[in-house]
Amino acid sequence: MPDFSDTLVDRLAQAEHVAVLTGAGISAESGIPTFRDPDGLWDEFDPQELANVEAFLDNPELVQGWYRHRRQVVEDAEPNAGHRALRALEAHVPSLAVVTQNVDDLHNRAENSTVIELHGNITDNYCRDCERTVGAEIVDAAIQDGEPARCPDCDGLVRPDVVWFGEMLPPAAMEQADAATERADVFLSVGTSAVVYPAARLPVAAREQGAYVAEVNPDATGVTDTVHESIQGPAGDVLPALVDAVTARQDA
Ligand code: OAD
Repeated sequence: MPDFSDTLVDRLAQAEHVAVLTGAGISAESGIPTFRDPDGLWDEFDPQELANVEAFLDNPELVQGWYRHRRQVVEDAEPNAGHRALRALEAHVPSLAVVTQNVDDLHNRAENSTVIELHGNITDNYCRDCERTVGAEIVDAAIQDGEPARCPDCDGLVRPDVVWFGEMLPPAAMEQADAATERADVFLSVGTSAVVYPAARLPVAAREQGAYVAEVNPDATGVTDTVHESIQGPAGDVLPALVDAVTARQDA
């Protein structure tokens, strides 16, 4: 049984606004690799070779191919018990915003009503010249022909709709994330190492702005010393148990 406090259950049971920051760890139980764990993506691959615009312009086929592979992994994956618990929590609080660093679309597929994507969404692609959305089938066909994928309108290179190193986060998403954090009575940080900014400052800001802040992670993170409460364990165990406890508290 995961170990969380009565205070957290009480706060969640009475909260008006809940914000949840998620990272790659919440999708680990769906079979999607994280970045910084042993065997994580950044252990196997060099971000400098794959996740920045210079790398893309040097070798678009390599970068498009790597993102196509990752897209196929997420398309074959399913939301897990952790994603589903965040959806279920919506029935118990008036407003719940999921702020995610993940690009895997799994919170949308779990049907959370407010999903703020800070780092984009790997299932979408767009032309880096004219910015039109380009369907994945165009990327797939070009890669199968051994060509870089290009825009059908202007012939510009097609890129995944994700934030690369050195790029700004989508300003609207960041504004929404800041607003959700400011409003939150309870803030949960789930499955993130909390070392990549600006996302990592949200749990800190939440605490400064008066929210009760808890994290869910099997290991210590960049915000373990900041949060009120650190719940050690996998999200797929902890979050369903937390929702059950909130349900029991509200029914009591
Ligand atoms: P990380 O790989 O840095 O951290 C994953 C976290 O998930 C670690 O703290 C693990 O302990 C934890 N974890 C592993 N399994 C878990 C489970 N079953 N339940 C809960 N937690 C678990 O991933 P992020 O924090 O998401 O950015 O990384 C942040 C950003 O760094 C990513 O969005 C990506 C990367 O560079 C971009 O690509 C822009």
